[in-house]
Amino acid sequence: MSTTPLRPRRRRGSAPLRELLRETRLSVSDLVLPLFVAEREEDARPIAAMPGVVRHSLADLDAEVERAAAAGVRGVLLFGVPARKDAKGSAASDPDGIVPRALRRIKALGLELALMTDVCLCGYTDHGHCGVLAGGHVVNDATLERIQQVALAHAQAGADVVAPSGMMDGAVGALRSALDGSGHEQVAILSYAVKYASAFYGPFREAAGSAPRSGDRRGHQMDPANGREALLEARLDVDEGADMLMVKPALPYLDVVRGLRDAFPETPLFAYQVSGEYSMIRAAAEQGYVDGCAVALESLLAIKRAGADAIITYFAKEAAAWLRR
Ligand code: PBG
Repeated sequence: MSTTPLRPRRRRGSAPLRELLRETRLSVSDLVLPLFVAEREEDARPIAAMPGVVRHSLADLDAEVERAAAAGVRGVLLFGVPARKDAKGSAASDPDGIVPRALRRIKALGLELALMTDVCLCGYTDHGHCGVLAGGHVVNDATLERIQQVALAHAQAGADVVAPSGMMDGAVGALRSALDGSGHEQVAILSYAVKYASAFYGPFREAAGSAPRSGDRRGHQMDPANGREALLEARLDVDEGADMLMVKPALPYLDVVRGLRDAFPETPLFAYQVSGEYSMIRAAAEQGYVDGCAVALESLLAIKRAGADAIITYFAKEAAAWLRR
């Protein structure tokens, strides 16, 4: 029998050796926890389609944020559920709206935590679309003016990072100039540069109350079939001044994560493990079909191996505990 020149199994012979040779490590400091906060007490409740995730009231948000920080999570991403909605999503830019109020409260806790906010109108408009409508279409540049006001309200209330998620053309440049023009040049922009029109957002729309009343988001979010176009979206956002880029969803789009990591080596990259990704793992685990902890950690590791620097995940707090075991 001839000897093989190299036997890869030799490197896998023991746990310490495997650990020494491990290429990718997932750590709690890679994770960002999304948080939903409701303006009205009666809207604060568990989200049926996302077991383990709740919409918090302002009052119980403090404890949740403290738990996340104590677990070692380094960032939170805030989504507001407003008391009232209208055609323009006015409540989104109210300096005393739900997200600015939440930001001021969290700031006052003095935690070591990056405060990030989702900047979009879909949770605040009565029609559920991500911008100002005319003739059933989301009007790009009128929407940019609105999200500038939203980002300013968040910046004034203490956001460290604003994350435009509406896939409007020119959003990053518009936010950068609005922030710089008002003394908020230190506020960073995390661009949802590559956001697909994905069915994996289903459970989130219950959480944020942001489902469009009619139609869909395919006129602005990307076609799931397109990979090369992701590079165009990312390049435009980098040129407009994006500090960080994001790919969303994460696990079904690992090729896109890898593509952006390679094409933009200087730009930190986030990936968002979205609601549907989370709920599928949860549901399968509840049925006993898979080991939820193992599948969640393996998914997060895969996202990191594909090139993400940080991962936004509803598992953040639990994963922190699992990683410590
Ligand atoms: C839009 C927004 C969405 C998500 C984050 N920001 C939903 C959408 O585009 O319909 C989805 C997040 C998730 O599914 O976890 N503001």
